[in-house]
Amino acid sequence: MHSLTRATLPALTKLERSKMALARSVALKLINRSISVASIEWARARRVQAQRVRAFSALMSPPSKAVVYEREGPPDSVIKMIELPPVEVKENDVCVKMLAAPINPSDINRIEGVYPVRPKVPAVGGYEGVGEVYSVGSAVTRLAPGDWVIPSPPSSGTWQSYVVKDQSVWHKISKDSPMEYAATIIVNPLTALRMLEDFTTLNSGDSIVQNGATSIVGQCIIQIARHRGIHSINIIRDRAGSDEAKEKLKGLGADEVFTESQLEVKNVKGFLANLPEPALGFNCVGGNSASMVLKFLSQGGTMVTYGGMSKKPITVSTSSFIFKDLSLKGFWLQKWLSSEKATECRNMIDYLLCLAREGKLKYDMELVPFNNFQTALSKALGLHGSQPKQVIKF
Ligand SMILES: NC(=O)c1ccc[n+]([C@@H]2O[C@H](COP(=O)([O-])OP(=O)(O)OC[C@H]3O[C@@H](n4cnc5c(N)ncnc54)[C@H](OP(=O)(O)O)[C@@H]3O)[C@@H](O)[C@H]2O)c1
Repeated sequence: MHSLTRATLPALTKLERSKMALARSVALKLINRSISVASIEWARARRVQAQRVRAFSALMSPPSKAVVYEREGPPDSVIKMIELPPVEVKENDVCVKMLAAPINPSDINRIEGVYPVRPKVPAVGGYEGVGEVYSVGSAVTRLAPGDWVIPSPPSSGTWQSYVVKDQSVWHKISKDSPMEYAATIIVNPLTALRMLEDFTTLNSGDSIVQNGATSIVGQCIIQIARHRGIHSINIIRDRAGSDEAKEKLKGLGADEVFTESQLEVKNVKGFLANLPEPALGFNCVGGNSASMVLKFLSQGGTMVTYGGMSKKPITVSTSSFIFKDLSLKGFWLQKWLSSEKATECRNMIDYLLCLAREGKLKYDMELVPFNNFQTALSKALGLHGSQPKQVIKF
């Protein structure tokens, strides 16, 4: 680990910077060409880079191994792992050596081209993660090599070994945070926290209902709710291992856990036992599973939809609107992060990481070496049945 700053060596000229940018863009464009053409051009680009790096290494990042896609489409066929040449670390930049980054459903949707906001291709995948500061530009005083940082708000391009971004992007976190939790603390735990706070006032003793309870968001909802004295009624899909999944969720503090098939009855309220009827429900599945959340809701209750894992639409009976006056709402973290409320984001990250450090926030993850990215991706795509969250370790 060493600190490299602009002050230690002469700055690049404008011409040299533009040559560097050109070489990096050539490298990105190479990824979809035939191997032979690519390898010749790649070798040429790398030779240029190597000369630049030798001459100006104090101002450059190391080369970065990256998962990139040049066009949108099925992730397992459009992504490639390549080495990107070094980039300049400008005076306000911080170069971060990534430690870990998850594969979330929204990362997959961005690559597929079905997410409403997504980076221009060619692009490096990934949206959140944690890293260690490797070097800083000459004007950076807030961060130093060795610090642990996460991009906050999260931003595209975390599936690579070195990320260079303006210092304002990086939030310093406590180094005793468990690495895999630091890597995954924004997209899912923050969504769980916001949804518990932003729709109805929940008091200790109240209850909520949710489907997709085995998801990371679902596991976080159970634990944050329990921490606040709020009961949870949880719905999971019928699948191999559902009994173990039920026990696991109960171990996290779930009051009740049902498979969808258990709830194929007209009146589910008998399953509530002594719990109060929930006024708030969360849906990340859609289809029949969303109807089950609706069935549990109290008069005037609200269902918040934040995902659509089954890819099936939500159907609501006329009577649910007329006689129960139910409300349907949506939540999207990316929109929330662009609101004025998002200034609190870093405090919430610290709060959630504190819960993780204290063992009050736990969820299932599998750490996978970066070289095994394709295997992790196929698990995240559901090609091997239900799997824990795949977290890449660089
Ligand atoms: N709106 C937002 O701002 C926001 C933010 C974060 C996450 N999300 C969404 O929240 C959802 C959960 O994300 P996550 O990262 O927490 O999930 P995750 O940990 O990757 O887990 C995936 C979940 O989806 C379930 N699932 C997978 N395929 C399914 C299918 N065909 N039918 C029904 N359930 C299926 C899995 O159930 P099994 O355990 O049975 O496999 C598991 O509960 C996703 O839809 C994601 O896009 C939305």
